[in-house]
Amino acid sequence: MALHIQTASGDPTSASVDWLAVFVTEGGLEKQKVVADLDRALGGALLDQAKLAEFSGKPDQCLDVPTLGRTKAKRLLLLGVGSKRGIDAARMRNTVAHAARTAQAGKAKSLGVALPSEGVDLRVVAEGVGLGVYRFTKYLTGERVPKSELKEVKLFVAKQAQSDKSAIELGLKIAQAICLTRDAVNEPPNELVPETLAQIARGLAKKNNLGIKVLDKKGIAAAGMKLHYAVGQGSANEPRFVHLSYVPKKAKKKIVFVGKGLTFDSGGLCIKPAPGMGEMKSDMGGAGAVLGLMAAVAALKPQVEVHGIIGAAENMPDGAAYRPGDIFGSLEGKSVEIVNTDAEGRLVLADALTYASRLSPDLLIDAATLTGACIVALGKTCSAFYTAEDKVAREMEAAAKDAGEQFWRMPLIEDLKDQLKSDVADLKHVGDRWGGSISAALFLREFVGKEIDWVHCDIAGPVLYDAAKGAYPKGATGHPVLTFLKVVEHAAR
Ligand code: BES
Ligand code: MN
Ligand code: ZN
Repeated sequence: MALHIQTASGDPTSASVDWLAVFVTEGGLEKQKVVADLDRALGGALLDQAKLAEFSGKPDQCLDVPTLGRTKAKRLLLLGVGSKRGIDAARMRNTVAHAARTAQAGKAKSLGVALPSEGVDLRVVAEGVGLGVYRFTKYLTGERVPKSELKEVKLFVAKQAQSDKSAIELGLKIAQAICLTRDAVNEPPNELVPETLAQIARGLAKKNNLGIKVLDKKGIAAAGMKLHYAVGQGSANEPRFVHLSYVPKKAKKKIVFVGKGLTFDSGGLCIKPAPGMGEMKSDMGGAGAVLGLMAAVAALKPQVEVHGIIGAAENMPDGAAYRPGDIFGSLEGKSVEIVNTDAEGRLVLADALTYASRLSPDLLIDAATLTGACIVALGKTCSAFYTAEDKVAREMEAAAKDAGEQFWRMPLIEDLKDQLKSDVADLKHVGDRWGGSISAALFLREFVGKEIDWVHCDIAGPVLYDAAKGAYPKGATGHPVLTFLKVVEHAAR
């Protein structure tokens, strides 16, 4: 990212930038100084345009106006943010990201942003810029290579401060960490296999001085992770187990994150239908988020011990693949009867959760693109989370709100537990169709240490977006890295 962000004081209307974005609160546009100044420069055309387009500064409204040479900036972007009090961190990040993305798409190389006069966190603003300019262009050639890149961003603030630079730097690093997740999820499954996830982890560990342990196929077998092994046994791209750790001198809490890392989920012998199968390259979204989180934690350096664990495998049909009817042991000890080889994620996670429990964390959180049923329940833009503890649930909600990511608590309904009874093993790994996201969570719970505060996140929907919105681009979003980072930050308080 050859992106340079700096603060500026003075009059944004005379800024030498390609595009100028202006935060606008709702109502009384003519009384807002920057808007009034720009309207004057445009001979009254700006307020005319706003009226014509019914732009009043409502949240999420955006008005794009060419200046036809009347100001140094070639285009103006009016960004509606609603009431003055309404600009929380999430709205700020989303609005800035939208402006940066729109300006870059419009071939702007430089962008000025006239920020509100108070309540501006420059770290959040920089996060927004970094997230907004993201594009996945690695595999484009010739004509398809984007010709223009946003390089300079000038943030017009009421008062510049010494701390501006470090806040911006941190925000950009966090955005970069989230973009690492996005890159991994966007990467095609022929290029990103379980070993690739391990390589990314090794790179992170080396660069940031994190602890790392990687188990290959043999190591997974030797460790007793029989369920993880079973899922990976039918693929030429062998499974990996990854454990990254960040251990500061004086830690207030220990949090362990676990991510589902299916680099491709064909369904195995219970093969998926062809339409949409390609989307299953994103079935490592949980693992990708764990990698991004560890990068963000390394930048933030909180006083919290953070572990990132990945269960990586490829689910393929093959002569050596696991089958419905198979019975396997697990790291925890319980035996599991395989019902449907397409419910592979919970198997990989089961062993990873047992491993994670043995680290005795204060909080254990997993993220997995686990069930289609979750998407049926909450749609494509909201994740489910499950926890038995109300206090932990409130903490998740607070973290998600700060992050501007959508999470909804779902219940661990005990009635559904009966569906996991097997005649020939301790457990079946799949229940009925109805409540499929819940029974998956209940299955995972069997492998979590009894005394441990645990949150399961089913992120099947929001890992990919169909269209850009706020800080999320089309394609891989980087969800839920920011929420997890907020959980860590709150724990450091
Ligand atoms: N990775 C899928 C879940 C998924 C589906 C994520 C669609 C994103 C979009 C998971 O491994 C899976 O196949 N789940 C099955 C479980 C079923 C066989 C019990 C499902 O949801 O259909
Ligand atoms: Mn599956
Ligand atoms: Zn899957």
